[in-house]
Amino acid sequence: MTEQPRLVVLISGRGSNLRALAEAIRQGRLRATLAAVISNRADAPGLAFAAEQGIPTRVVSHVGLSRAEHSAALLGAVRPYEPRMICLAGFMRLLAPSFTQAFAHRIVNIHPSLLPAFPGLEAQRQALDYGVKVSGCTVHLVDEELDHGPIVMQSAVPVLDDDTPETLAARILAAEHKTYPAAIERLLHEPWTLEGRRVVFQSSQGT
Ligand code: GRF
Repeated sequence: MTEQPRLVVLISGRGSNLRALAEAIRQGRLRATLAAVISNRADAPGLAFAAEQGIPTRVVSHVGLSRAEHSAALLGAVRPYEPRMICLAGFMRLLAPSFTQAFAHRIVNIHPSLLPAFPGLEAQRQALDYGVKVSGCTVHLVDEELDHGPIVMQSAVPVLDDDTPETLAARILAAEHKTYPAAIERLLHEPWTLEGRRVVFQSSQGT
């Protein structure tokens, strides 16, 4: 059997999306292997999960480093694993152009809002405060701007009148756990092109 495409996952914390990717791989919904999990924080719970699963782990701390220096260190850590794609899963640092350009169109992120609405931190609270009736999650290609690159897939969830940031976050997270593996599976295994900002999957065209 040919080797599945290799993914390196970058995390900073809990790692529930990392778990969702691992589960999707186990179930055959995502045809890939997790080559490594890299965290900027040694105490990230997701790192412990990866280690339990026998996935190679690395810590590349950002402390005391500029963004460019941290990205250079990350690049050095990621490259030996020769990933097809790099998946950001709750990774809380911005990547420098040196990194995003080295893996152009091969880095994905998941964000808990329907971008371009509510980029940045506390997206669920931003959505509640604004009063939107629908929110959701977005998988996008990563460029050097925050939560900005071309959109791969989005899933919507309702915002309910009695939602708190926590209840809305939980509803969105459930959508994230389905959407992220599905988006990565498509990127890896279906032909697609980038037309301006639009990610166009060939199989969805022209019916
Ligand atoms: C998720 O809500 C993700 O969309 C955002 O950060 C959170 C990470 O959660 N980028 P987890 O670490 O995957 O549980």
